[in-house]
Amino acid sequence: MTESWSIRLCERRDVNELLFIEQSQFPEPWTKGMLLDEITNTEARRYTVAVQDKKVVGYLGVMFVLDELHINTVGTLPGFEGRGIASSLMDEALRDAAHRGITRATLEVATSNTRAQRLYYRYGFKPVGVRKNYYERTKEDALVLWADLAPET
Ligand SMILES: CC(C)(COP(=O)(O)OP(=O)(O)OC[C@H]1O[C@@H](n2cnc3c(N)ncnc32)[C@H](O)[C@@H]1OP(=O)(O)O)[C@@H](O)C(=O)NCCC(=O)NCCS
Repeated sequence: MTESWSIRLCERRDVNELLFIEQSQFPEPWTKGMLLDEITNTEARRYTVAVQDKKVVGYLGVMFVLDELHINTVGTLPGFEGRGIASSLMDEALRDAAHRGITRATLEVATSNTRAQRLYYRYGFKPVGVRKNYYERTKEDALVLWADLAPET
């Protein structure tokens, strides 16, 4: 057993492991088809996975909109939370964004999801608004967060 994980670009073959994380971590999980569309759209999306002992233990997906980075999703395999996996995926994605000259990032997060909010606040995200009834099934509101990204050093 290795003590840590490495990060690489997500590939089609990872889809079932992403689906498992989706289904176990999200109240409104994406389908396999939605995940495949996201992973394979390498023009406008960038999906990465954290891999430990050949197992996907976390993933993060971003979307590029002009000079903005949209964080679409981040999830850690149940039982692997609190080890820094999501943080390392965020670090890597924000480094890549800075390298592309992207200066701002945004995302939506459920108002009750304080764990994820704490993660995002550590990266300088700040709430700028609320989207009412954003989540279809739960009807929960989403906070809209934005962050200014540090330029590449
Ligand atoms: C939100 C989520 C992605 C966080 O993933 P994670 O891998 O647990 O995140 P991290 O480990 O990087 O950080 C979480 C906490 O662990 C702590 N931590 C980081 N490294 C650690 C380590 N080596 N040992 C112990 N704790 C550690 C962090 O300080 C952080 O603490 P905080 O929550 O008090 O700020 C995960 O809980 C998840 O999948 N949630 C369900 C899906 C979801 O809500 N996604 C976001 C949708 S917007």
